[in-house]
Amino acid sequence: MKGIILHGGHGTRLRPLTHTGPKQLLPIANKPMSEYCVETLVDAGIKEIAFIIGGIGSKKVKEYYGNGEKFGVKFTYIQQDSPRGIAHAISLCENFIHNEKFVVFLGDNIIQRKINDYVLDFEKSDASASLLLCEVNNPSQFGIAEIENNKIIKITEKPKNPPTNLAVTGIYFLTPYIFEVIKKLKPSWRNELEIADALQILVEEGEEIIYGMITDFWKDTGTPDDIIEANRIILENMPESFQGVKEENVVIKGKIIVGEGTIIKNGVKILGPAIIGKNCIIEGNTTIGGNTSIGKNAHLDDCNISDSIIMSNCTIKGKLNIQNSIIASNSKITKEQNENLKKFLLGEGTQISL
Ligand code: TTP
Repeated sequence: MKGIILHGGHGTRLRPLTHTGPKQLLPIANKPMSEYCVETLVDAGIKEIAFIIGGIGSKKVKEYYGNGEKFGVKFTYIQQDSPRGIAHAISLCENFIHNEKFVVFLGDNIIQRKINDYVLDFEKSDASASLLLCEVNNPSQFGIAEIENNKIIKITEKPKNPPTNLAVTGIYFLTPYIFEVIKKLKPSWRNELEIADALQILVEEGEEIIYGMITDFWKDTGTPDDIIEANRIILENMPESFQGVKEENVVIKGKIIVGEGTIIKNGVKILGPAIIGKNCIIEGNTTIGGNTSIGKNAHLDDCNISDSIIMSNCTIKGKLNIQNSIIASNSKITKEQNENLKKFLLGEGTQISL
């Protein structure tokens, strides 16, 4: 079985973070979110994976993932001219897939469960698709599946009156027959070829669609709050490790992960779960955590950061309370001596709450 990771898209809900790169490379617990998809596919024994890339982020994706050697598999890159829908992205893989069954992973969907058993089951089955479903509290925001006799009998995109709370997650097991179905699709109201429409055609043609349930954790990380929540869950489940240097009078509570070359100075408090990357300096009366990821080369002095993601090479200095925030790489936040003075240099689409 081959794998496809969708790494294109608009990423509008994550602007300004997506002005300079694709959302799927945004870090969660200091690792690009799509790397969790790669690991899940590799762990399931998939040896050939194609990334659908597009727009501003294409070069960065290739640079980061390379030819796949690092993961012991082969990576291929397929360019999508513009984000014309998930089904459109899948249709570009017809030659790559050839006549094998395959699994598609949306690069911004994170699960913690392995998919090895679903790969084996789908290989053996006669079904035309297998979907992973997850119960959600807000079904009108998702593609929703209806089930009868252990088969999917209907899929409705964002229903006003949801018939069930079973959301279709962004992990689809498919056969090459889907390429024929996608050829029949017309663009939707948002001018995209919709995967939900393709799956609904399969149902209407009487093709079998089986499913599995995700009962622990699934997150579609489309918004900043989703990313902060995914960060919290991943941190909670990471093994502890401390490779840095800790001075006296440092308070550490809960599980933390600290990278090589990081110095945690006298007076600092770290509340897990938290991860701090390599070569950081943490000093003053800084408190980090919980649920916080700090990227490499950070310099944090006298600040208080919780439930946040601070990417690499950031400086945060002064008596600042930062919560539920995502700060992109190379940012600098310092406090002016004069409490009433605020000074900004902000990129397009920045959000600030003072
Ligand atoms: P979405 O989250 O539905 O869309 P988006 O990434 O454009 O974001 P936004 O709604 O905030 O503008 O996309 C789901 C996944 O599929 C995501 O990983 C991006 C990917 N994708 C493609 O690769 N190509 C596409 O044409 C589309 C629409 C999405």
